Amino acid sequence: MNTTERASFEAIDGMDDDEDNETNPTTSPTIGDIIAERMDRRDLMRGLLASTVLAAALPAGFMAAGFMAAGPAQAQAQTAKSTRSAFSFKEVTAGVDGNHHIAEGYDADILIRWGDPIMPDALPFDPMAQTGARQARQFGYNNDFLGYFPLKGSNRGLLAVNHEYTSTELLFPGLKSVSDARSADPAKITRQMAEVEMMAHGGSVVEIERGKDGKWAVVERSKYARRITAETPMEITGPAAGHDRMKTKADPTGRRVLGMINNCAGGTTPWGTWVTCEENINNYSLGPVPAGHREEANWKRIGIPGRRYAWGHYVDRFKVEKEPNEPNRFGWIVEIDPYDPTSMPKKRTALGRFKHEGAAGIVNPKGGQYVLYSGDDQINDYVYRFVTRGKVVPGKRAENMNLLDEGVLSVAKFGADGTMEWLPLIFGQGPLTAANGFASQADVLIETRRAADLLGATKLDRPEDVEANPKTGRIYIMLTKNAGRKPNEVDAVNPRADNKHGHIVELTPPEGDQSAARMKWEILVKCGDPSVATVGANFNPLTSKDGWFSNPDNCAFDAMGRMWISTDGNADDFNGRSDGIWALDTEGAARGTSKHFYRAPAGAEVCGPCMTPDMQTFFIAVQHPAEDGKEWKAWGKDSTFDDPSTRWPDFKPNLPPRPSIVAITRKGGGKIAV
Ligand code: FEO
Ligand code: CA
Ligand code: CA
Repeated sequence: MNTTERASFEAIDGMDDDEDNETNPTTSPTIGDIIAERMDRRDLMRGLLASTVLAAALPAGFMAAGFMAAGPAQAQAQTAKSTRSAFSFKEVTAGVDGNHHIAEGYDADILIRWGDPIMPDALPFDPMAQTGARQARQFGYNNDFLGYFPLKGSNRGLLAVNHEYTSTELLFPGLKSVSDARSADPAKITRQMAEVEMMAHGGSVVEIERGKDGKWAVVERSKYARRITAETPMEITGPAAGHDRMKTKADPTGRRVLGMINNCAGGTTPWGTWVTCEENINNYSLGPVPAGHREEANWKRIGIPGRRYAWGHYVDRFKVEKEPNEPNRFGWIVEIDPYDPTSMPKKRTALGRFKHEGAAGIVNPKGGQYVLYSGDDQINDYVYRFVTRGKVVPGKRAENMNLLDEGVLSVAKFGADGTMEWLPLIFGQGPLTAANGFASQADVLIETRRAADLLGATKLDRPEDVEANPKTGRIYIMLTKNAGRKPNEVDAVNPRADNKHGHIVELTPPEGDQSAARMKWEILVKCGDPSVATVGANFNPLTSKDGWFSNPDNCAFDAMGRMWISTDGNADDFNGRSDGIWALDTEGAARGTSKHFYRAPAGAEVCGPCMTPDMQTFFIAVQHPAEDGKEWKAWGKDSTFDDPSTRWPDFKPNLPPRPSIVAITRKGGGKIAV
C-alpha cells in the first residue's frame, strides 16, 4: 500500500495504521548517534573482496542440490575486473504515463488479470455485476508475490500468486472518492461489496504453459487451479497453536482459522511449498477497543483496529469487541502446497506475528537448516530471521513439510562498527518473562514486535524484502523509505533523515554461515536521484539518468545470482517516474550500478519479480494500476472506477484498470539480460 491511499485514509480516522506511520513507541537508540557513511569507494572494494571469499567458501552446487534452485553458475559475467554491468540490455526510459514499457528487444505480455476465470466453473468477468461468489472463482485483486513451481522445467508450471488487498475505489462503480472507498462506512460499502473484497483477497494457483510460439498462457480446467480467500479454512501450527489467545467462539481449539489477508510478498521453499506473508492485518478490524482489555498493548503496537475495511459490519469476527482474539490469528506466515489443491494451508506461528513483508529463505551451507528472512514492513520496525531446528533433507519432500514449526526466531540489531547481531526471541531469556507479560513462547510469538522492542532491536527505514543471494550467500535488505526519521534519529544503518527514497543494506555472514549470531553489514546503495546533491543517493557512477530508482520493495535473484529490484513509491511522482523493475549489480567494479528494465503504468507498483530457472521468462506482478491519481501530476485528482487515471491493460471504455501478471520474454527467445 502506498502513501496516497494511506494519507486519504488517515484523514478519515487518524489511525496509526500505515507502513509510513510509526507504531513503535520505543525510544532507546540502539546504535548510538554516530553517523557513518558506509558506502564510499573503500566500502565498494571491501564488499567485492568479501563476496569473492564467500563464494569460494560455499560448497559447489549446494543450492542446486536442493530441488528447483539455481542453474549453472556463470561467473564470467561477474568478474571482478569488469567495469561493465553484468546485465546486458538497453534501458527503458524512466517516466510516467498510462501504459507500461519494456526494454528494447523484449515483449511484456499480459498473462492473467483481475477477474479472469480460474476455476473450471468460473463466470466471465463482468465488473458491473461482481459478486463474492463470482469473485471467489476468478483471479483476485492486487497481485503481489509470485512463485513459479515447475511441472515441466521452465516451460510448464504453477504460478502461486498473492492477492494482497483491494483498491476499493477502482473495484466498484459509483464510489465518488478514495475517502469514500476507504471509509469502512456501511452506507458506502455494502455487504455485497464487502463480500467481493473478501473473495478478492488471498491467493491463486494457476497452471501456466509456454507455447511453441514462446508465449505463455493459463491452462484452462487445470486440476491444480485454486483460489484461496479470506474464508479458506486454515490450520494454525507451531508454538502458538491452541493457545487461549488464539481461541474464538467459532474456533474453541485455537487451531483453525478462516482465511489469510493482506498477503504481501513471500517465498518458495526448496521442498516445493509457497510461503505467503500476512502484512497489514490491522486494517481489517473495526473498533471500539474495550478499555483495559488484556490485548491493549498488543493491539496498539500493531495498529488494531485499523478500520480501513467495512467487513466487520457484516462479519462479527472482524469486530474486536465481538471477537478480540481474531486479530491474533492473522499476521503470520502461511505455508501452502501448490501441487495439492486439497491441502490445508498452515499458519506457521513459530515464525512470529508482525506485518510480514516476505519470507525468502536459503539452505544454510554450514548446517543444512532452512534459514528464512522476513522484514516487518512499517517505518521504524525490524528485520527477523528464522532458523529451523531440523535440517533440510534434499529430495525427501515429506520430511521437510513441517520444518517451519520448530526453530529459533531472532531480530536484527545493528552496530555502528559494521557488524550486526541476531537476538533470539526465546521465552524466559532476558526480558521475555512474566515481568513483561510473557508467560510462554506463544505469548512471545503473538506479540513478536513487543518482544523485539524489549530486546533492543534496531528500528529500520521500512524493511520490505530480505533475501539471500544463493550464489554468494550475502543477504540484502530492501528499506523502502522513512520520511518520519528525524535528523536526531539517523544512525549508521539508517543514515538519512526524512528518507524519502530508501536504501539497500547488505549482510555478509561469516564463512557463509546463515545461522551465525553476528554478521557484517554495509549499505549497498542509497536510492534516489544521484544528480541532486541534497538527495544523498550513491549509485555507482556507471548508472544512467534512467537507471536510478527510489523505494526498493521486492528483490529476486536470477540463476546467475544477479539481483533484480521492484519498486513501490516512485509512483508518488516526486520524480516524475513510475515504479518498475531495475537490475542492480552487486559484484565487481560495477557494483551499485542500476539499470531500468521495465516501467509500470501510472499508479502501479511492481511486485513479485520471479524468473524461470532457465532465465528465459521473467514474471512480474503489476499491482494497483491507476491508484494514487492525486500523486500523478498529469492527472491530479482521485482515480476511481468511473474515472480512472488509466484503463491499463485493456484500455476499453467499459473495463476498469486491472492488476495483472506480466510475462516478459526476449523477442526471438533467449535468456533475459544476458
Ligand atoms: Fe505490501 Fe510491504 O508492501
Ligand atoms: Ca508495497
Ligand atoms: Ca511489498
